[in-house]
Amino acid sequence: MSELTPIWPADPEFLEKAASILKNGGIGAMPTETVYGLAGDAFNTFAISRIFEAKNRPTFNPLIVHISDPADLEKLTSFPLSKLQKLIEAFWPGPLTLVLPKLESVPDLTTGGRPSVAVRLPAHLVARDLIRLSGGFLAAPSANPFNYISPTTAEHVQSQLSGKIDFILDGGSCKVGVESTVISLTEDRPVLLRHGGLSFEDLKTVLPDLHERTELHGGHGPDSPGQLAVHYSPGTPMKLWKGEPLSGKKTGLISWNFIPEDADVTVLRLSEKGDLREAASRIFEFLHILDKLNLDMIYAESVPEMGLGKAINDRLRKAAGKG
Ligand code: TXA
Ligand code: MG
Repeated sequence: MSELTPIWPADPEFLEKAASILKNGGIGAMPTETVYGLAGDAFNTFAISRIFEAKNRPTFNPLIVHISDPADLEKLTSFPLSKLQKLIEAFWPGPLTLVLPKLESVPDLTTGGRPSVAVRLPAHLVARDLIRLSGGFLAAPSANPFNYISPTTAEHVQSQLSGKIDFILDGGSCKVGVESTVISLTEDRPVLLRHGGLSFEDLKTVLPDLHERTELHGGHGPDSPGQLAVHYSPGTPMKLWKGEPLSGKKTGLISWNFIPEDADVTVLRLSEKGDLREAASRIFEFLHILDKLNLDMIYAESVPEMGLGKAINDRLRKAAGKG
């Protein structure tokens, strides 16, 4: 049995302690407004290789570098800050990740061997404090084993990664609840690679030229490994619900509108009031809850394909393995 990883409250004493561990090449979980991240110094390849190992994640899958000050972009990319001003003013801090051409000094291990680096400035104050105290650049994928459900509480991280990491900072449950939206600025036109906590529609107000490329292309590797068809999956078999009867098995349903009459079905409703933001903040939490019930099948009802609904439907499809 591996030792339990300590969960620390995110007060100044433990922030300092966590920062000192990170500065010495350790790795640990930090809260962000999207999901919990598994953080390590982005410039320390020993720490980065421990992150890949703890997650059991293939090393071609690049990490996001988290910063606490937009001025620090100049240590990661030669892309002119002036060209990013409008985007940064509108959406940072927040659930937006920018893929930019990388400087040579950014380790290839961090970027999965790519010539680009993904950067995000999170809104969660604990994350920003930790980044600043530990030197300014924390690489952090979601703090879950590769292909499993992303964590939105410190307890989720503990149940999945305990014994493999050095600490977990508890900053409460994640308000946004799905990962950041990833856009690339390395081509002629800006392209959205992953739907997430910032909607395509909102991004279009600042980037009218933005187009999306979130599907896999036959024969080529994904542009962004978050595009892999199976991802974010529970251990329990899962299907998108297409109107079929749910009786006859031990079944759970993540519901948008549908309430089955069968009393045996465990129903978790994403938002009584039909609010997609509330639904996004609950999606991973509900998958974690249902996955613990030893069900034969988890069904999920799709939500409207608008605003944050695109990110929610993407996570549901991938959890069900129907990318
Ligand atoms: O909200 C989030 O983004 C969370 C929190 C912790 O910040 N992090 C997160 O990291 O979701 P991760 O590693 O689970 O997902 C990173 C995504 C992947 O889809 C990855 O392929 C993409 O960003 N990505 C990272 N670097 C990239 C690059 N250079 N080019 C294209 N895609 C990149
Ligand atoms: Mg992830």
